[in-house]
Amino acid sequence: MAYLSIHDDGPVRVIRIARDERLNALNLALVDELVAALEAADTETQVRAIVVTGGDKAFAAGADIAEMADATAVDMKLRDQFRVWDRIRGVHKPVIAAVRGFALGGGCELALACDLVIAGEGAKFGQPEVKLGLMPGAGGTQWLARRLGKARALELLWLGEPITAQEAMALGLVNRVVPDEACVAEAVELGKRLAEMPPVALRCIKEAVYQAMDTTLADGLEAERNLFYLLFATEDAREGMRAFMERRTPAFRGH
Ligand code: CAA
Repeated sequence: MAYLSIHDDGPVRVIRIARDERLNALNLALVDELVAALEAADTETQVRAIVVTGGDKAFAAGADIAEMADATAVDMKLRDQFRVWDRIRGVHKPVIAAVRGFALGGGCELALACDLVIAGEGAKFGQPEVKLGLMPGAGGTQWLARRLGKARALELLWLGEPITAQEAMALGLVNRVVPDEACVAEAVELGKRLAEMPPVALRCIKEAVYQAMDTTLADGLEAERNLFYLLFATEDAREGMRAFMERRTPAFRGH
């Protein structure tokens, strides 16, 4: 792992992007490593939640501009560097971004691609690609349009000015704002709370919520019903309902 440092805190896998000297600019190799690390965590049963974080100064300052500066449109089309980002959406376990410092361009898109975001109070979110004569390519227009609506998305994308953690919180992009030094610990704590929940139910809930952003209400409701019925095949659902009846704490085992 050239660009990441990874450790487990109990059931929570903490993946830190550690290319600090370049403010965690997301070059091709780094993103490949990150996707591989997320997918590995997704398959390891002892891991119940994943935290993605960066350094004190930058979560990530975007795609690596040096790597793109001389590329032609054909190079970019053939490289198709943002396709691999779709695999982040394919991770089934809860993914929590712990954002300190700059989350710009691809860094902001990475935070938006995570399920939950804990922001340090000094975090700055933004899509400054327009200032490079570009636009977001790793999901920024789609995430922001869906989550903020047209007008607020266009203002952020057209002006390219960063917003503070508090502003991102007010816009609903962030779950919590905490002191910078508490950011990773808070994300891990949230991961540990999720780790106590029944994993198959968490997975089905994630699938249904993402479906809601992607489909009609009728199709979404149908998908939700089917996922709900499916959970009756899990022992955890049996355990959860029995524990309620017996007035005890359930012990979820992940199947
Ligand atoms: N790509 C490549 N290198 C980057 C980088 C990036 N996105 N962001 C920072 N760096 C490098 C700098 O070149 C610098 O390297 P050197 O020390 O070798 O000169 C080092 O990281 C430190 O950066 P700065 O000296 O610029 O630090 P600063 O504190 O003065 O400024 C900043 C911080 C405002 C975040 C500034 O670095 C900046 O504006 N970075 C670019 C942000 C940006 O435009 N991101 C969008 C990229 S395009 C994209 O992401 C497309 C997409 O949709 C995925």
